[in-house]
Amino acid sequence: MSGHGPAIPMTSRRSGPLTGSARVPGDKSISHRALILGALAVGETRITGLLEGQDVLDTAAAMRSFGAEVTDHGGGEWSVHGVGVGGFTEPGDVIDCGNSGTGVRLIMGAMATTPITATFTGDASLRSRPMGRITDPLAQFGTLAHGRQGGRLPMTLVGVADAVPVRYTLPVASAQVKSAVLLAGLNCLGQTVVTEPTATRDHTERMLRGFGAEVNVEVGARDRIITLTGQPELQPQSIAVPRDPSSAAFAVCAALIVEGSDVLVPNIGLNPTRAGLFTTLQEMGADLTFEDPREEGGEPAVDLRARFSPGMKGIEVPPERAASMIDEYPVLSVVAAFAEGATLMRGVHELRVKESDRIDAMARGLELNGVTIEEDEDSLTVHGLGAGGMPGGGCAEARLDHRIAMSFMVAGLAAKKPVSIDDGSPIATSFPVFEPLMAGLGAQFTRNNG
Ligand code: S3P
Repeated sequence: MSGHGPAIPMTSRRSGPLTGSARVPGDKSISHRALILGALAVGETRITGLLEGQDVLDTAAAMRSFGAEVTDHGGGEWSVHGVGVGGFTEPGDVIDCGNSGTGVRLIMGAMATTPITATFTGDASLRSRPMGRITDPLAQFGTLAHGRQGGRLPMTLVGVADAVPVRYTLPVASAQVKSAVLLAGLNCLGQTVVTEPTATRDHTERMLRGFGAEVNVEVGARDRIITLTGQPELQPQSIAVPRDPSSAAFAVCAALIVEGSDVLVPNIGLNPTRAGLFTTLQEMGADLTFEDPREEGGEPAVDLRARFSPGMKGIEVPPERAASMIDEYPVLSVVAAFAEGATLMRGVHELRVKESDRIDAMARGLELNGVTIEEDEDSLTVHGLGAGGMPGGGCAEARLDHRIAMSFMVAGLAAKKPVSIDDGSPIATSFPVFEPLMAGLGAQFTRNNG
């Protein structure tokens, strides 16, 4: 939904040890895909552990608008009665994807090769984000797109009948673009080929295979080539969504910087294409243990334990790791502020086109809390002040960005003075139980509006 309620100003205070189990919600990327592929299968897909954040609820509503029957059975259990590949019907109204870039971009791909017209919009954050990266490859299938200047939403897509498959090389490392092209390729007779210069999260490829599509992946020295055979009959699945490592990151990073903490995050997805943050934290000297590694529903999973790590050191995070931790740089920059020495994050220009310009949002917010920052178009350097060293006392702008809001709430747990944010309402897009879950571990969070 694009309408945001009133702003929720929040404050986070230095807290005692964080302890206990953090049962974070289901993976956002996998939840979107489960709903979309469920809608494109013939018959009933059952999903457990679905993330019930606003982003995913908006995708569920969109799938209903395209003709699928989506039912919430309570307690994270959902079912989707799909309409089959090419079976989407034309929505009767505008599709509102709220805050979700993943939602809108994947859905655009999924409808692009069906002869229907759909208009998409979203909140102020989503309406400011570039859609040309999706509509350019979709144009190669023959899909027409009419948006605002700069390829922004609201935007109308006119899907195409009998599309021929395309070969596309990603100009940016983006799982959303890769997935949109593969989903468009589903309804084309023949093979759609996507080449990615850097491996990005591969949930779409894994799940397409799970639904019975033929997906071949060739990993070369310089790239990854994905070939999808179009027009499969997707078979409905039972999907158990693993817990989201990107949400787990907030509890894990909080435990690393709050004195005396020991937190277990059970059963998180640890797909290697998502695990870059944990490698980086270990290089900094974080005390992390990965317990009981296993496979859950086609995705690697572990129980992750994080303990207070007072001696962490700043490091250089290499650009080739960016795709595997792209959503974790905001919270990493908070950890970096509590490490000794500088942390240099390179190759991070994609952060400028997320829910907010995340380099600018983190830089300004950290400066307001007494941390020295350097930045350029493609990098961010945080000068760490050691354990407990961040002065705090500032109010950061969340800029309609859930991960910026949660990162500063984590910072306040270990800063000398409280850290505030102007608006915590976007947190509900990906982590609706963030406040009670963190409070259960011992975090002192307050809402400031009465
Ligand atoms: C996502 C891909 C990433 C990520 C986003 C989720 C996905 O975006 O930032 O939160 O589920 O495919 P990009 O593909 O733009 O890097």
